[in-house]
Amino acid sequence: MKAGLTTLITDTPEAGFALAVKLSQKGVATTQTDPAIRKALRPSYAHDANSLIAVSHVVATHFQTIAAANDYWRK
Ligand code: HEM
Repeated sequence: MKAGLTTLITDTPEAGFALAVKLSQKGVATTQTDPAIRKALRPSYAHDANSLIAVSHVVATHFQTIAAANDYWRK
């Protein structure tokens, strides 16, 4: 099944992780709707270790949800 915002079900953990990143980015774009502002702010998060750790945490939280929804890809 194709990963997308219509389903949390993915074929592999790797695809699940990609979906977690996508959901995280969607959260940012929903919060700050102006792409010019996102572009201007990108260098500050991309060059700040603590911002990158915060990004990683948000992705990890989404990944937990997705992994649970996929029964941890046990099958
Ligand atoms: C690019 C993830 C937060 C603005 C990217 C990329 C990823 C990513 C994976 C592609 C990186 C690459 O190809 O080198 C995330 C995640 C975030 C987050 C998971 C938060 C949980 C933010 C924030 C901003 C931002 C807070 C700005 C306010 C951008 C911009 C790009 C980018 C402008 C370049 C897009 C492009 O060139 O098409 N982000 N990011 N992101 N991010 Fe983020």
